[in-house]
Amino acid sequence: MAQKREVWGTKIGLVLAMAGNAIGLGNFLRFPVQAAQNGGGAFMIPYIISFILLGIPVMWIEWTIGRHGGKYNHGSLPGMFDVMWKNKLAKYFGMLGLFTSSIILIYYTYLESWSLGFSFLTLFKDYYGLQDLSHMSHYLQSYQGMNNQYFGSIWYAYGFLLVTFFLNFYFLRKGISKGIEKLALFGVPLLLLFGIILVIRVITLGTPDPINHPEQTVMNGFAYLWNPDFSKLGSARVWLAAAGQIFFTLSIGMGTLSAYASYLKEKDDIALGGLATGSLNEFTEVILGGSIAIPIAVAFFGVGTTQEIANGGAFNLGFVSMPIIFQQLPIGNFIGFLWFFLLFIAGITSSVAMALPVISFLQEQFDLTREKATTVVGIIAFIAINFVVFFFKYGFLDELDYWSGTFALVIVALLEVIIFAWIFGIKKGWQELHNGAKINIPKSYYYIIKYITPMFLIILLVVWTIQDAFPTLLMEGKEAENIPYLWGARIFMVLIAIALTIMIRKAWKRNYLRKNEVK
Ligand code: PHE
Repeated sequence: MAQKREVWGTKIGLVLAMAGNAIGLGNFLRFPVQAAQNGGGAFMIPYIISFILLGIPVMWIEWTIGRHGGKYNHGSLPGMFDVMWKNKLAKYFGMLGLFTSSIILIYYTYLESWSLGFSFLTLFKDYYGLQDLSHMSHYLQSYQGMNNQYFGSIWYAYGFLLVTFFLNFYFLRKGISKGIEKLALFGVPLLLLFGIILVIRVITLGTPDPINHPEQTVMNGFAYLWNPDFSKLGSARVWLAAAGQIFFTLSIGMGTLSAYASYLKEKDDIALGGLATGSLNEFTEVILGGSIAIPIAVAFFGVGTTQEIANGGAFNLGFVSMPIIFQQLPIGNFIGFLWFFLLFIAGITSSVAMALPVISFLQEQFDLTREKATTVVGIIAFIAINFVVFFFKYGFLDELDYWSGTFALVIVALLEVIIFAWIFGIKKGWQELHNGAKINIPKSYYYIIKYITPMFLIILLVVWTIQDAFPTLLMEGKEAENIPYLWGARIFMVLIAIALTIMIRKAWKRNYLRKNEVK
């Protein structure tokens, strides 16, 4: 029978859990790479505009949809959409929310485990001696199982994956206030502390090699990121990258914020909470995330090489250039440990969030206990993760990331905005958002949410589809050898989407029968 819905234990716990959800690898790895790939200062203007017009509004919407759904004991988007939109299709649209979060969970946990692995490899100076980019990237590839020069096999990476996986599901099994909230209460302040220590270390670097490279200074790194470049404002690519980063970093368009918000009480504040956690995420991303990987790389390698490193791959800044630099710093192995362990904590407080929608779904729709639901999701996710590990070298992970972690998010967000502002109705929605609110949201947001955010999303989706999704769909520029695996990744995603759809159908049939029995 229906179990009593869990709630967050404390206000601060809730805020930190929400912040932990948003603050992740995206803030420290993805942001610097995106910024560097898109011309540093050129990136920041569209980024800030996207935060104001997309990030903040969708954040509020997700919280509101979530708290509202929670009243009906729904912790995932199918049920949440269903109570806001009296239409048979609503729940199936909600499937996409389960889809994005679970696919991201599958590859994100693997990345998270690399940071755990590298934190120990750094502490014990395993790669010391590999002092240039090509050796170090060979080392990373060896860890990933692409050659066996440094690691005899993939089992090393696999071991860390097992530990990471176990920890995730350990906290999830403990539930909302005893698991996720405890983890965030401890993890988020710790990662902020590590972040601040690292930033101070970076700022005090000055000019590492004043004789040979007097132009390579930390300040030049900051200048690279912060000097606005208005000439690139017309580039669609830069806008897409900036908006995409806002989505990923705030965890919007995946239903995880809604899942967290579903454990709020009816009168709990959303307006201030959403703004506060969104702002904390931005502080962590722009101030902390922006002050580590890029400035340090510019100081050691110069602007040109930094850009090349970033273009060479999403993980090269964090996992290749940083380890080279740690070797040149006093007590660099400790500093490096802080860096990778910071990534790990940021990662785990996000990955537990990705698993929550599916767990809540099973728990609520099929009357499983939290423990059982967690175990089921854990086992399935673990099987799925093996594809990511063993097909990594063929671009399997990137393919999942593109469709679920970049493209589908925009669609989910658009659905959320339309359902909230147009179907449920902005008037009712605005009221719901202000129920228990600790601040008054400026009225301009009423109109932004109703008109500007959906327009922005539609334009984004159209431009994205034409410029990016079609060429990607046709696999332009992909190596022939990888193509079967990329198709494999697509089939894998389609199968997951079908399985979720069938489960939704089953769940609703079952609940329908049960309701009629009671009568
Ligand atoms: N926002 C997280 C990050 O920046 C990623 C994330 C995605 C978290 C999906 C939850 C859900 O890394």
